[in-house]
This record gives sequence, structure tokens and C-alpha cells, in this order.
Amino acid sequence: MGSHHLVLFLTTIVLLVVDCFNTAFANFSALGDPRMKRDELRVAFEGWNFCNEVGKEAPGMGSPRAADCFDFSSKHKKKGPVLKHRVSEADNKLGVGKPFHGLSRKGLNNVDLYAVEKELYLGSLCEDRGSRNPWQFWMVMLKNGNYDTNSGLCPENGKRVGPFKPGRFPCFGKGCMNQPTLYHLKTSLVGVNQLRGGFSGTYDLGADVRGGIDGISYYEVVWEKKIGVGSWVFSHKLKTSKKYPWLMLYLRADATKGFSGGYHYDTRGMMEINNGAPCDGDVLTDVTRYSEMIINPQTRVWCSPNSLISCPPFHITPNNKKIYRNNTASFPYGAYHYYCAPGNAKHLEQPVSICDPYSNPQAQELVQLLPHPIWARYGYPTKPGDGWVGDPRTWELDVGRLSSRLYFYQDPGTSPAKRIWTSIDMGTEVFVSDKDEMAEWTLSDFDVILTTSTSE
Ligand SMILES: *[C@@H]1O[C@H](CO)[C@@H](O)[C@H](O)[C@H]1NC(C)=O
Ligand SMILES: *[C@@H]1O[C@H](CO)[C@@H](O)[C@H](O)[C@H]1NC(C)=O
Repeated sequence: MGSHHLVLFLTTIVLLVVDCFNTAFANFSALGDPRMKRDELRVAFEGWNFCNEVGKEAPGMGSPRAADCFDFSSKHKKKGPVLKHRVSEADNKLGVGKPFHGLSRKGLNNVDLYAVEKELYLGSLCEDRGSRNPWQFWMVMLKNGNYDTNSGLCPENGKRVGPFKPGRFPCFGKGCMNQPTLYHLKTSLVGVNQLRGGFSGTYDLGADVRGGIDGISYYEVVWEKKIGVGSWVFSHKLKTSKKYPWLMLYLRADATKGFSGGYHYDTRGMMEINNGAPCDGDVLTDVTRYSEMIINPQTRVWCSPNSLISCPPFHITPNNKKIYRNNTASFPYGAYHYYCAPGNAKHLEQPVSICDPYSNPQAQELVQLLPHPIWARYGYPTKPGDGWVGDPRTWELDVGRLSSRLYFYQDPGTSPAKRIWTSIDMGTEVFVSDKDEMAEWTLSDFDVILTTSTSE
């Protein structure tokens, strides 16, 4: 079967802009490894089922948490460059029932809790003492979009619910929510001055990817860097199949402590500081929020003057003007595909569409954008087809500034909540397709830049 091939090149500059006063600005990175420039890499892997848990481990693979973290010396007298790995393959293969240092009694025999604690354990092995705070790793996140609704496994907007009739989500039958195989190419020296490593595998547990990937799902993340030069380059491949038509693969920077986006438990990460802001916010909400851009030019336009239900209530211009969606003369309908509100919001403006309540531990909210000239100032695609198949390009995205200009729900009458992004994901979601789809993209120079006023 012919597969669609999407190739993207991304250079991501993520800016969290905190504007308080019109004064001088100082910018600093929130990351342990700003722009991915250190030769010593810290990277981890995690597999998620539909509700962001493990559910069941894949046979022989252990808990779907792994890491590749090494120290590096470029000037070893006899041996030349030397990598000293901190995580062993035995650590990576740890699975439910196998003890490790610090594991709780509760976690030992519960696959979901075990994975949470394994991540903390791997974090302790990888931890680097930053100049400000300790930090742990980048996170490769892989998610299977199958949901067996007969399992009653996923909560609805965070609340427990029973099983319900199949049909709303893809699932080929029992076992459709499985975790993938995981092969680890430990980072090593390639040639004289190149470092290379990776993770790869498939959800099709019986399949051998060495025999080719026709008809089966596949994922691959390979990281490479020239010693002493530039940024790590992460090359991704993600392929769906009939049995696994909805897959997601991201590279993520998480806060080093506390909950990350889409989680309900403590995680480890890359962001040493997630709040360098001098502003003091007011309201905190418990919602996973997405700002996504759909770049497939065949995407039908949903948000329109005749379908306000698919539009956010208003658009916010760079100078903070709100344009309501019923303002047909001015609202940029072509810039939005779809908006859905969190299921726990109590005062929604009608008409409104509610987001899928199952695919996250907490309620979620999505703003789906389309390429449009108004996004040009944030570095995003401006025309249908930009960056799509046959148009590979490098993008420098200002995700933070864009996200600060998007509508997200708040109770009416409350002053604007401070938006705290504890995780920033960059990646691709191949959403339910009846063909095998292959997406490929590379990512480098990832940074999270905090801007703060230096005087009042
Ligand atoms: C910091 O970032 C802001 C916003 O992007 C920019 O206007 C400013 O010039 C930057 N300041 C410095 C010192 O680079
Ligand atoms: C447009 O929507 C806003 C916000 O819901 C509302 O206040 C206003 O009355 C609406 N205008 C028209 C002409 O319907």
C-alpha cells in the first residue's frame, strides 16, 4: 500500500514572553541544555496508552520508560573522545515486579505506578547539577491513539467511568492499547567526531522491523551531533498502519519537578526554571491545553461564519484587540480549523464543541490553527501546502508568543490567568487514517526563552 510521506524540518525557538512593562528586556533560557548544544546528552523515552498510562507492558520490554544519558570527555589522552553512560540496559529493561532503588511497595506490582517511579529513578541517574537547579532529560513521548472502550480504562474528564459501546475510537479488538517494542541504539562515537544514538520500534508485537515496515506501525528517533559544533539534531519517523491508525510522537521539555502537561503525577525534565516571571498571576486551572497547526492542505475548513461552533469565541490581535467570531467582517476564519472547550468549564459561550474527555487524565482544550498570513509574525506557515509533502523547509517557530495570543477558556469576569506551560512538546500526530501514513521531521536548537523586564 502506498504511504503518504511528510517531511518537515524544524528549528524550534520557543519563546515564553512575559510582558509586564514597556521597558528593557533580558532574555535567558529555562533549559538545562539551551539550544541542545552540549555534547553530553540527556534523553529519555516514554510510551503512553490512550489515557496517558501504561495499561500493560509489552512482553520482554520492561516498563516503557528508558533513558540514554552520558558524560563526555573529548580529550582522553589515549582513547580520544570517551562517553561514560549513566543508564545501563538493565536499568532500561526494568519492568513491573522488579525492584530498584527507591521503588515504593505500591509501585512494585502496579504497571502504571511502576512507570511513574521508574521515570523518577532514571531521572536520578541522569540528573545534572545546573547552575541554578538540577535538571534531568529531554523526553521522547510516543502515544498510541487506540481506545478499547470496553475496557473502561480511561477516565472521562478526570472522573472514573465504566465501559461503553465501541465505535467512537479506533481499536482492532482486545489488546489494541498495547505498548510498543523498544530498541535502543546506545549513543556512541561514529567516525572521529560524530555522536549518534536512537530509539525505535513498532506496536505490532509479532513483527520484526528488520524485515521492513510495510503494513506495520513504526517509530524512530535518531539523535546526532558533531562534537563541539552546533546543536543535536533529532530525526523522527512515525508510521501508522491499519491496526494503529492514530499515533503521536513528540520531543518534550518538561519542568524538572511537579506535574507536566497531560500528567497527573510528578515527572522529570529539562526546564530548570518554569517561572522567571516578575508578574504575579491570579487563577490556576487544571486543563491540558494544545495549540496545534494542521498543515495537511486537504484539511477541510471547519471554522467559518456559518459554523461558529468550530471557532474560538474571539481572536486576539498582536496589540491585544479582541475580534469576536460573530464579527464576520474582521474575524480571520481561515486561520482557525477547530476549537473545543474543556469538559469541566462551567460558563461556556454557546455554541461550543467539547473536547474528547478520555484521551487525557484531565480535561483538555484544543485550538487548531491553519496556515494563514496572520501567523507569519510567529514564524508559522502562512499558505496551504507550506511545509507539506514536497516542500521540505526549516521553520523557526515562536511557540510561546503565539500561544500567549490564543483564546483559552476562563470563567467570565475573572482577570486573565497567568499561563504556565510546564511542558512544551514539539512533534507530529497522525490522526486516524485509512492508509499507512509516514511522517518524518527533524528538530534542533530547541530552547525555552524567558523574557523579563530588567527595570520598571
Ligand atoms: C529579548 O527578547 C525580546 C522579545 O523577543 C526582544 O524584543 C529583545 O530585544 C530581547 N532582548 C535582548 C537583550 O536580546
Ligand atoms: C457578538 O458576540 C458577542 C460576544 O458573545 C456579543 O456580546 C455580541 O452581542 C454579538 N454581536 C452580535 C451582532 O450578535
